[in-house]
Amino acid sequence: MGKVTTATLRRMKEEGQKITVLTAYDYSMAKILDEAEIDVLLVGDSLGMVMLGYDSTLPVTMEEMLHHVKAVTRAASRSMVIADMPFLSYHLGLIESLRNAGRLIQEGGVQAVKLEGGQEVAETVAAMVKAGIPVMGHLGLTPQQVNQLGGYFVQGKDEGAARKILDDALALEEAGVFSIVLECVPAPVAELITAKVKVPTIGIGAGPHCDGQVLVTHDILGLYNDITPKFVKQFASVHELIKQGLQQYKDEVRKGIFPESRHSYGMAEEELKKLY
Ligand code: KIV
Repeated sequence: MGKVTTATLRRMKEEGQKITVLTAYDYSMAKILDEAEIDVLLVGDSLGMVMLGYDSTLPVTMEEMLHHVKAVTRAASRSMVIADMPFLSYHLGLIESLRNAGRLIQEGGVQAVKLEGGQEVAETVAAMVKAGIPVMGHLGLTPQQVNQLGGYFVQGKDEGAARKILDDALALEEAGVFSIVLECVPAPVAELITAKVKVPTIGIGAGPHCDGQVLVTHDILGLYNDITPKFVKQFASVHELIKQGLQQYKDEVRKGIFPESRHSYGMAEEELKKLY
């Protein structure tokens, strides 16, 4: 099966085939996600919380993103890889924004970048697309605006707020995005936007009508339990399994059960004798 591209995602929308997206932050997990044929691996700035223990995505830097992005792109042979542009990496002028997006492509090896915002970032999106950098938009709950929004709340709950998200989606499409993430918006609003734009919508807490779904891998596997939003479904509970394995290791080392001779290396008797 060939590498997933922006064209694949557009075709999937046209054919009514749902798109699967999950986050990836490291080589080993990205390999499993790639083997599982998840269409898109998103190196989200959620890595700040999940991998680095920050209390929001705001402290994440370009260098931290690149570090994780490189590990993921080394693992992905089929899945498309998209990297989040971190907070303020696309707000300090077009040149700076293009340079940062270009670094994720050139140094990180991703196929596209994602950035948060609507009409206010449309010019930046258009400049990136013009430079040959595919861009994914992100509307609704945009975690980089948490201080402005006053918390992590559902967005677009009244007519005015919902219309603003729709207008933003249309502006992003006009600017050239190849896809739009809709985070924490009412399902009927996501359904309407999905019908109005030609590019695929990828929902997270946005109901079943989006063209695809994205979740944080560590949430669905039960690896990250600090916060569990309503929209998360846990598909496996790996935390307990890991803890059991770790406790067995501890017990076997303490009791001298591990390592056994099959885990050890020997040496020729006559060489050994010379040591004594
Ligand atoms: O940072 C992230 O992981 C994201 C997704 C959850 C949409 O933006």
